[in-house]
Amino acid sequence: MAALQKPGSSSLMGPLAASCLLLIALWTQGGLAVPISSHCRLDGSNFQQPYITNRTFMLAKEASLADNNTDVRLIGEKLFYEVNMGERCYLMKQVLNFTLEEVLLPQSDRFQPYMQEVVPFLARLSNKLSQCHIDSDDQHIQRNVQNLKDTVKKLGENGEIKVIGELDLLFMALRNACN
Ligand SMILES: *[C@@H]1O[C@H](CO)[C@@H](O)[C@H](O)[C@H]1NC(C)=O
Ligand SMILES: *[C@@H]1O[C@H](CO)[C@@H](O)[C@H](O)[C@H]1NC(C)=O
Ligand SMILES: *[C@@H]1O[C@H](CO)[C@@H](O)[C@H](O)[C@H]1NC(C)=O
Repeated sequence: MAALQKPGSSSLMGPLAASCLLLIALWTQGGLAVPISSHCRLDGSNFQQPYITNRTFMLAKEASLADNNTDVRLIGEKLFYEVNMGERCYLMKQVLNFTLEEVLLPQSDRFQPYMQEVVPFLARLSNKLSQCHIDSDDQHIQRNVQNLKDTVKKLGENGEIKVIGELDLLFMALRNACN
């Protein structure tokens, strides 16, 4: 390391030292941030398929027409409160899991034909995130996810409809958080 920092000691050392410093800069800038797990990632191509994107948005639209509660937004500022960028994919993984297991499966007979196409798509994304973990304390993340779950439970069936009505937001949040 000491050798690397000696300026201009060879033509190779310059760039090498520069990239070393850049790395260190990135580390310290990330500061206390968690090392972002490479498993917390979804390829952009997952979100660039016109057909399934259309189906997802159509499903959300149809459900949101049946959602009679316009005061509550599930996937919004409150969900991301105090969750930094590097943790958001992990957060969205939890929301996706809840959506699949506790909302879409129980409601799977409704909103056809969209539902039967969108569920396997979301299940594949969920599967691709199965190794996504964070090493640090995740209490703040679990708290926000729990708030969302509690809100849905409190709204009863209309809560489930609302989750489906926000599948477009889920889609975009996954795309943004897991890129
Ligand atoms: C989805 O595609 C249909 C035509 O197949 C179109 O009428 C509709 O507007 C599209 N919806 C969205 C949300 O892109
Ligand atoms: C949801 O999470 C549980 C616990 O981690 C896991 O066993 C299950 O397979 C997940 N479900 C989906 C649909 O990803
Ligand atoms: C909203 O929908 C729920 C369930 O679908 C129903 O129980 C409730 O009465 C509805 N509320 C209003 C204000 O229409």
